[in-house]
Amino acid sequence: MKPLSSTSPNTKYVPGRSIAEISEQYNIPADEIIKLGSNENPLGPAPAAVRAIVEHANEVSIYPDSDASSLCDALSEYTSYPDANIVASTGMDGVIDTLMRMLMPGEAIIPVPTFSYYAISARTHHGTPVFVSRDENFGFDPQAIVSQVTNETRVIFLCSPNNPSGNLVPESDLRTILEGCGDCDGCDAVVFLDEAYVEFSEGSMIHLVQEFDNLVVGRTLSKAFGLAGLRVGYAVMPEQMRDEYLGYATPFSVSSLATAAGIAALGDDAHLKQSVKLVQDGRRVLMEIPFKVYPSEANFVLVDVSPHQSGEVCDLLARKGIIVRDCLSFRGAGDALVRVSVGTPEQNERVVEAFLEFKSCNE
Ligand SMILES: Cc1ncc(COP(=O)(O)O)c(C=O)c1O
Repeated sequence: MKPLSSTSPNTKYVPGRSIAEISEQYNIPADEIIKLGSNENPLGPAPAAVRAIVEHANEVSIYPDSDASSLCDALSEYTSYPDANIVASTGMDGVIDTLMRMLMPGEAIIPVPTFSYYAISARTHHGTPVFVSRDENFGFDPQAIVSQVTNETRVIFLCSPNNPSGNLVPESDLRTILEGCGDCDGCDAVVFLDEAYVEFSEGSMIHLVQEFDNLVVGRTLSKAFGLAGLRVGYAVMPEQMRDEYLGYATPFSVSSLATAAGIAALGDDAHLKQSVKLVQDGRRVLMEIPFKVYPSEANFVLVDVSPHQSGEVCDLLARKGIIVRDCLSFRGAGDALVRVSVGTPEQNERVVEAFLEFKSCNE
């Protein structure tokens, strides 16, 4: 096997820390650890999804639909877009990767800090990320994004609510960027709007797919639907683009159990409502963390622990059996930002107390 060149600029995706890792490192029983570093659903999966997995377990000797058409039917109902606009894959990461296979090489404009897999996937497909810094509140000037567009630009990644900051892209900014790309001579750049956390917010812009032929909206069942371990993501895109996308997609990329569970989860309204309420209530509790906490529309909050270092705070919390995420692996995030996923009410209280204790011992 050819070794990865030591000069390769690509860096591996850094996930949140696992329960097993913290349990071993600090000798804490696994069932006493709370995991608030990966923006997972504290309620667990939709009960209907678990039943569907059990019911369909015997079918795993058979290949699933090659393009997950039954899941796309359910997604069509959920998004109110026809199947002709929908693709599904192995998590939203799978959708991003297939799109990069289709669009790269070329430039990918990425306002940072944001989800790091955009740059990793673009580079993997021989593309070049062009990073644009966000302002102190993690917004950006849409004209500054448009001014970076060249005829090498293939994609602009926007994330709303943004990971790790939790803020939405205003619709007027998205329109400016979509129109700005359309005006650029010889440019056929796609805008990829990542709505992984949209169920926790009021701000979906999926309706714009019918208006713009260069917009793709990515979504996932990993967050509000609690299926992170099954890997189900999807995107809504213009019909013509979908036809091209399917030519690059890996067949059978959504397993039969993921398909069955995804369909069931999309129909489990009670679980979705409960998940959203839990997060919206929990965000208010996490605002009591005694540092600057940025307002969030997602299932996490971002905390600025300056003048302390994020690593110090995360280590102290880990010793108490609480996993949160330092943002050192997010380009442009600096070394004082900690991302905390919303947990159950008890977990949120424990986190606030741990931060209070850190503050009282260190200031
Ligand atoms: C903004 C954002 N997009 C995409 C993903 C990946 O989603 P999936 O689990 O569907 O691959 C994540 C995962 O944390 C995320 O934070």
